[in-house]
Amino acid sequence: MGDVLLELRGIDKHFPGVRALKDARLDVRRGEVHALIGENGAGKSTMIKIVSGVYQPDTGEILLDGRRVEFSNPREAHSAGIATIYQELGLYPELSVSENIFMGHAPTMKRFGFQAIDWEEMEWQAAALLAELNIHNLDVGAKVGALNVGNRQRVEIAKALSLDAQILIMDEPTAALTESDVEQLFSIVRLLRERGVSIIYISHRLNEVFELADRVTVLRDGEYIGTQDVTDTSEAELISMMVGRTIENLFPKQTAEIGAVVLEVRHLNRPPLTRDISFSVRAGEIVGMAGLVGSGRSETAQVIFGVLPAESGEILLNGQPVKINRPSEAVDHGIGYVPEDRGHQGLIREMTIRENTSMAVLELVSKNTFISRAKEQALAI
Ligand SMILES: Nc1ncnc2c1ncn2[C@@H]1O[C@H](COP(=O)(O)OP(=O)(O)OP(=O)(O)O)[C@@H](O)[C@H]1O
Ligand SMILES: [Mg+2]
Repeated sequence: MGDVLLELRGIDKHFPGVRALKDARLDVRRGEVHALIGENGAGKSTMIKIVSGVYQPDTGEILLDGRRVEFSNPREAHSAGIATIYQELGLYPELSVSENIFMGHAPTMKRFGFQAIDWEEMEWQAAALLAELNIHNLDVGAKVGALNVGNRQRVEIAKALSLDAQILIMDEPTAALTESDVEQLFSIVRLLRERGVSIIYISHRLNEVFELADRVTVLRDGEYIGTQDVTDTSEAELISMMVGRTIENLFPKQTAEIGAVVLEVRHLNRPPLTRDISFSVRAGEIVGMAGLVGSGRSETAQVIFGVLPAESGEILLNGQPVKINRPSEAVDHGIGYVPEDRGHQGLIREMTIRENTSMAVLELVSKNTFISRAKEQALAI
């Protein structure tokens, strides 16, 4: 294992009303996979955005290869060899694989006295980069928008390599991947590590930490809790570092009284993804719905909630058949839905917490079409 390549010391970062990082630390060695873990809001994304030049720290310093660096923007971090793959991928869907990989640094040639993009060379280099990563069935001329998530992520990794990254940061890269895409991602990560690239890997999944990482750093409430060799720690220890107390199980099972059937779904259909779904849910019960990415779990929830109303089949609430054609009708029946993609489907990020809280129940806080700020406030807190 190599020497320390990247070091963060005493990093503080405030946002209005939040101290996202307090005296946070991190050291990453050359050629290691370093996992960064912590609960929601622990400060992981803020920390890597500081490393990648998106945010500047209020105080603290970043050392790269022993030298102090300051990144005013992502471009400066790129030039220093730091590439970041965010969860929301940053590709151009209308452009091809090779254009995305070489966006901003395409190979050029002189043509009629002008400097022009050398398209042939670019495609050739893109294909070579993909081959280096053992990615063989991806057409460099294909539009990125037509690729699945796994392939888009591979394009991002190739792009990072085209920039000669010595540090590759991945923020929850497996969140939207299928099982086989996860395996392929892991083998690419291992390949990069063998080549001496350092990888900072953010994940919520402890099994991935044990499978992939060499060391792991835990953040809690913006503070540095500790760094462990993966071989010297256990799942139970990492969980207690993350939550701040000793527990065996992150989500201990609670006993609840199970009552009568509240919701029953019979032969629900909304092709192509929801076909002949039947199940029932009792009062006080948590029912898990399992399946691979693309198997139709979210779509089934959306059929019940009226986002994509059913074409046939029945929904019964407390034994009575109901018709749900739009989300407001589901809400009237006492059904709530917390979507998978909170940023796009769950919240309006430009609006306040107060406004988001009342959005689906405006009639509770308004009179004659005027919203009462005071009632809205009372609802939200
Ligand atoms: N741009 C911002 N403006 C205001 N507050 C922010 C901003 N970005 C992050 N925060 C706040 O800073 C804290 C740390 O957030 P951060 O996104 O770094 O956590 P995280 O560990 O990545 O969480 P998650 O696991 O949910 O991705 C949170 O309280 C968050 O609400
Ligand atoms: Mg995050």
